[in-house]
Amino acid sequence: MSRLIIVSNRVPRPRERTQPAGGLAIALNEAIRTRETMWFGWSGAHDGAAGPGPQVVTQGNVTFATIDIPATAFRGYYEGYSNSTLWPLLHSRVGLTLFRREDQAAYRAVNAQFADALVGLLRPDDTIWVHDYQLIPLGRMLRDRGVTRRIGFFLHVPFPAPQLFDCLPQAGELLADLGCYDVIGMQTQTDADNLNAMLSAQGVAVRARAYPIGIDPVAFAAAARRAAAGPEARRLLDSLAGRALILGVDRLDYSKGLPERLAGYERLLRRFPEHHARVTMLQIAPVSRGDVSQYRTLRRELYEMAGRINGEHADVDWMPLRFLTRTVSRATLAGYLRLARVGLVTPLRDGMNLVAKEYVAAQDPENPGALVLSRFAGAAQELSDAILINPYDPDEIAEALHLALTMGAAERIRGWQRMNAAVLGNTAADWARRFLGDLER
Ligand code: G6P
Repeated sequence: MSRLIIVSNRVPRPRERTQPAGGLAIALNEAIRTRETMWFGWSGAHDGAAGPGPQVVTQGNVTFATIDIPATAFRGYYEGYSNSTLWPLLHSRVGLTLFRREDQAAYRAVNAQFADALVGLLRPDDTIWVHDYQLIPLGRMLRDRGVTRRIGFFLHVPFPAPQLFDCLPQAGELLADLGCYDVIGMQTQTDADNLNAMLSAQGVAVRARAYPIGIDPVAFAAAARRAAAGPEARRLLDSLAGRALILGVDRLDYSKGLPERLAGYERLLRRFPEHHARVTMLQIAPVSRGDVSQYRTLRRELYEMAGRINGEHADVDWMPLRFLTRTVSRATLAGYLRLARVGLVTPLRDGMNLVAKEYVAAQDPENPGALVLSRFAGAAQELSDAILINPYDPDEIAEALHLALTMGAAERIRGWQRMNAAVLGNTAADWARRFLGDLER
């Protein structure tokens, strides 16, 4: 088997390399365990202290090769074009999208820096798999440097309707870049259809296909069982004093629909007073991309809303909402998800959303909770037995929460069994195997 080259903006940090913590590391875990792999990306540093070339460290059969990106270029590439232009646009948020030529120049310059550093590390028979919107031009840039091996690209985020993507001044250039890959993978058929409409209009031959990503449900279920019996889960459980837990876990990102979600919870408290003092909502929203202005604005808005909701609805012995912006370890989260009577996952738009799948995997089969899920998350395609909602409508969220909180055990078990079968039927390992199977065919 040829060597596998994974390229992504972020690479697992040294302490995550033995115990994968991030979504992609977990998704690729099996693929990289079973063959010789090199994982290439950004070191997390800006200063070039380790020298101009890539820093290469081998651990077992995986070699991690990383480069520093100078601070100024990084701002334009990461905060600018990746996360102020492509991220909002790909999530259909044209109103939040910034269009700055200098950011686009930095984006291409950093992609070229990736290509220059990577080319020197490649062997003639490597298979190359590039990940996500930060690195769309990389395939073309590798081709320009003489790489003839198979190169695949997977987009982890959604792709908008053609009329929206067309607002991007560099749309044509990025579509041509995508045309340099041998296989293009997307999360859902809708995303693939949107991109394919644009590729064919542009005269690009390659077509995108849907490869919905999964989790490792058996390992996650075991982690949830363990953690639910551990001290952190016990601390949460004791503090609930018998109240039902509604749990949300998301990066603090405007695509996640957090203000709408809090408004939906507030609507529940207003319209269904029987839940007063019987329910607690815990929203864990670790700060993300804190140097990008739209994210800072959102954070202020959420602090304000959370304070107001508690101010207006709390009692001396009951706080309806707990809002946390710190990070919580993955293992602890698994235990919290198992304790939650309701998993609340309401993105306005999401490529897949693995929290929805993790919530399902974490449940106690004898007494599972209910999942309230946005129909605009990729996961809704597979988890059609969740309580599906329109995340823009706080009343619909309130009604779904009421339904979830009052649903009998038999109905919860029936829904959960079907969702769990879907999660078990399409794991992370299946996803990687299907994509690589097509790439190496
Ligand atoms: C999403 C993107 C990933 C990204 C992750 C965390 O899942 O699809 O590419 O790595 O968010 O965001 P960050 O900007 O911190 O890497």
